[in-house]
Parts: sequence; C-alpha cells; structure tokens
Amino acid sequence: MRPYDIIKKKRDGYSLTKDELSAFLTAYLKNEIPDYQISAFLMAVFFKGMTKEETVSLTEVMLDAGSRIDLSDIQGHKIDKHSTGGVGDKVSLILVPLMASAGIIVPMMSGRGLGHTGGTVDKLESIPGFRTALSVSEFKEALSRIRCAMIGYSEEMSPLDKKLYALRDVTATIDSVPLITGSIMSKKLSEGIEGLVLDVKVGKGAFMKDMESARTLARSMVDIGNAFGVKTIAVITAMNEPLGMAVGNSLEVTEAIDCLKGNGPDDLMEVTLYIGALMLRVAGIEADIEEGKKRLAQLIEDGSALRKFRELIELQGGNPQIVERPSLLPYACLTIDVLSEESGYIQSMDAEAIGIVSMILGAGRERIDSEIDPAAGIILKKKTGDFVEKDELLCSLCTSDEEVAEKTRVAFLDAVKFGDSPPEKKLMIIEVIE
Ligand code: URA
Repeated sequence: MRPYDIIKKKRDGYSLTKDELSAFLTAYLKNEIPDYQISAFLMAVFFKGMTKEETVSLTEVMLDAGSRIDLSDIQGHKIDKHSTGGVGDKVSLILVPLMASAGIIVPMMSGRGLGHTGGTVDKLESIPGFRTALSVSEFKEALSRIRCAMIGYSEEMSPLDKKLYALRDVTATIDSVPLITGSIMSKKLSEGIEGLVLDVKVGKGAFMKDMESARTLARSMVDIGNAFGVKTIAVITAMNEPLGMAVGNSLEVTEAIDCLKGNGPDDLMEVTLYIGALMLRVAGIEADIEEGKKRLAQLIEDGSALRKFRELIELQGGNPQIVERPSLLPYACLTIDVLSEESGYIQSMDAEAIGIVSMILGAGRERIDSEIDPAAGIILKKKTGDFVEKDELLCSLCTSDEEVAEKTRVAFLDAVKFGDSPPEKKLMIIEVIE
C-alpha cells in the first residue's frame, strides 16, 4: 500500500493490519516517508483512534524497531515506573535513586518534554556533564554497579518512538490513547523489566483531562504490559496544579535533591512514596502500601537515597557536587516576581496554563528543533488552598528572555483563581488499576 492509502484508510476509520503499520512506520524510520505524511497519519489516529489489536500491533512495531535489553544476567528485581506526563512532575528523579537504594534494579528510559509537560531527559541534561545517551553496554554496566541508570532514546533504543514523539510534540497529536500507549509501552518493554508501575495523570495539566479517558489509557497500558509478561499496575494521580513547587529543568533537579534530603513538599512526596510502595509490591518485597512507604521514607531519612543519586550522577558523567551545592546547576539571569493582584484563598492553579508559561520562558520546545533553556521555569511560592494577600509573592519566573517577561506574568496570573473560602482538599492518589 502507498503511504497515501494508509493515511486514507485510517482517516476513513478503518483498522490497519500489523503488516501495514510495520511497512509504513519502518519506511518512516528509514527516512523514506516525509514528516508531513506521518503527521497526517498521526492526526488521523488522533481523530479515529485504534482498536485494541491495532494498539498492540503499533506497540509491537515500535518495540521491534529498536533493541530489547536482556537483563537476565543481572540479579535482582527489575522494576520501572513511567508517568504519562505532568507539570512539575519530577517523581522519576526522586524515585530512581530511592528504589535503587531499596535494592530494586531500575533501568529507566525516559523522554524529553512533550507539549506543556516536562521530560526527565531534559531535566537530567540540565546537570552539567550528565550523559543520557549511554550505549546498551554502558547502561547494563551501570545497572550492575549501582542498580540504576537513566537514559533517553538513541539509534539503538526506541528509535521509532524518538521520531514519532518529537513530531507529536509539535503537531498537537500527543493526547491520544493508542499513541501514548504505543510510545510508553514500547519504551518500557524494551528495558528488560519484570514489573512496571504506571502513573497515569488526570486533570487540567494532564493529557487525559477526565477520569474516563484516564481509566481507558491505564487499562490499555496495563493490558499490554501484562500480555507481554511484565507485571503492570497503573495508579491514577491528580494533575490539576503543578506537582511540588518547581517547574522547569534545573529547578526541578534542585527540588528533587531537596526531596531526597527529606525536605520535599507534601503533594510531591505523597505521589512519590505511593508509587515507590507500588513498585515494592510489584517486586513482591512488601505488599502493604503503608509499610512500603515507611521503608522508603526511612531510606530518605538515613541519607541512602541521596547518596545513590550522587552515585548515579557521577557514573553518568555529571557533576556530583550539585547534590551538596545545587547552585552549581544552571540558573536564569532574569527573575520576575509575580505579585498577587487580589487577596483570597487560591481555588485552583491551572497546571496546563502554567506548563505553557514555563515553555514560553524557555523550558520547553515550540518547534522540533527548538533549543531549551535548562535554567528557565517557575518557582511557586503558593499553592491551591493557601491564603494570599494582595501584593504577596505568588511565584518567581526564571528566564533568559527579557521579551517574554510581561506576557508570562499576565498568563500566570490568569492561571490562578481566587475565592473567599478554602477549597475542598482534593486527593492526589485517585485509583489503582491492577
Ligand atoms: N510519555 C511518553 O513516553 N509518551 C507519550 O506519548 C506520553 C507521555
């Protein structure tokens, strides 16, 4: 079939066979099909969706396009986690060293920022010298030595997702259940893991805005994981306002270090420890969530998790001194303080709008080839439920681009809604799908 016919078939709502998907996407990987035809295909999938069988085929084609790591020669439980994407979501930066210090092997492959959400690879690369492009043998060596490693895509690992992910980011085709499922599950299944915990975000700042679509995505990924023999659990967590107090790459690394030192904000630590406890459950180490959380909190308290983060940074070529001195991370030359124009209780902080502000400040990409500013982003001073006086500091915007200062200040203020009484407290952990 010609690429044109594949696009038309999907546009008209028909299912594609695995052979058709494979021929089309493999040709794209070899640069035999231009971006504009793949963009049209992605948009057709966005509107017409895919059947379960097609989603499985898409995942298999994406998985087969790269290497699959065999970790059978490394002893221990190999468990990973992945988030569907949020604003201020630095959970992976905290959990990888924390779980490795608990004895779990965590072979994590992550992506870059997508849409208004941040990406773990961009955050790690804000650490001076840190290499996310390890070869498979370097990756395995790191896992054997310190039980964890954090990498991005390469020609070897998930090359098809690498290309599709970058294109989806700039063609408004991210928030599609089959495309997210194929992207996440092909990456995770290539890691050689035996268990996986998926953090499916729901709310204003998530790709899935309502519970029904979050459940559909969770179920789609859990079913595929289990069908491939990887014990997979999903937890649906709230993403209405940014997680924690920092949004942006080096700013989030700094906050992750604070969390590993025992000074993390409540919402971020609640999600982190819960997912960690689910990882212990998947590993068969501790079935009780509260007990699991206690164990992990202890590893933060006694400094083990922080020491592991230092080891990880050092092993991957980064400057480990940032752990003691986060001021060695890149910092923005311009800080704009945003003062509240009214007083009252914060009712909501629109995470998507705030993610877009962070992107405009320089932390995310507008185009496929945009350079990001590792230091750009937002430091929140207030969160939903806080009482704020007029002229009190709401946040600091960090950027190197003077021209965006006023525009982002106004956009941030628009994202925050006030009321006379405290809003009802919302749950962070909403539902577990096993
Ligand atoms: N995270 C991914 O890895 N892929 C997506 O498509 C969305 C979030």
